[in-house]
Amino acid sequence: HNAPVQLLNVVDSTNTYLKNTSGLHKNGGCCLAEAQTAGRGRQGRRWISPFGASLYLSMYWGFQGGYQVLGGLSLVIGVAVVRALKAFGGISAQLKWPNDVYLNGKKLAGILVEIEGQLDDVSHCYIGVGLNIQMPTDPASAIDQPWTDLYTEMGSQVNRNQLASTLLDHLYQLLHLFAEQGLTPFLKEWQAYNLFQDKWVKMLCGPKDFSGQCRGINDQGALLVETGKGMQAFYGGEISVRAH
Ligand code: BTN
Repeated sequence: HNAPVQLLNVVDSTNTYLKNTSGLHKNGGCCLAEAQTAGRGRQGRRWISPFGASLYLSMYWGFQGGYQVLGGLSLVIGVAVVRALKAFGGISAQLKWPNDVYLNGKKLAGILVEIEGQLDDVSHCYIGVGLNIQMPTDPASAIDQPWTDLYTEMGSQVNRNQLASTLLDHLYQLLHLFAEQGLTPFLKEWQAYNLFQDKWVKMLCGPKDFSGQCRGINDQGALLVETGKGMQAFYGGEISVRAH
């Protein structure tokens, strides 16, 4: 990894900082912060980001071609996070489609991929990862879903710098492979980490619900659910998956 890495104290959001810092716009260029004052989650949610309590990092990647080549990008990032946790401490995390990282049934990390412009036929991607390490209970009590951190799960302190460098290595490596070969080389592995593999799930898509058994993903990153009407593929958007 020979791209620039910038360490920040407090920022609004590492994704926003990365977007606005052209010196980091090289494949693998990234920034990490100790705290974020306006950390962002998916679907317009906040990402509570107390000082020193988590990893807050963003990595840049430019892909040739339009958005259509990027189906599944965020799923590959999930695979990179799971691999990094395994390599770092033998931790077996799981993935909840499209890109939440779970440990022992609770959310450990979140991924926010933002994609911009293609004037020059390049899709500029800002890939953000927030991974809970040792969260104070106070601000974190505002989090509206079951969550955990590595300290709680491992029962001991975690070397944050070492975890950060392991994660950056895995992100960089998998992004290279994804740029060359797309999602196909990762399908089986994603499935092996799938929190809901072969379980009954309910898909909430606007006013409609679909129930079925979760069968993994296709090569465009859509979630496959076997319903009474056969196999259905669910693409992004506002869909959410729940245990049935
Ligand atoms: C989610 O699960 O909703 C995604 C959360 C992503 C949070 C990370 S923290 C680093 C980067 N900067 C942000 O503002 N968000 C992402």
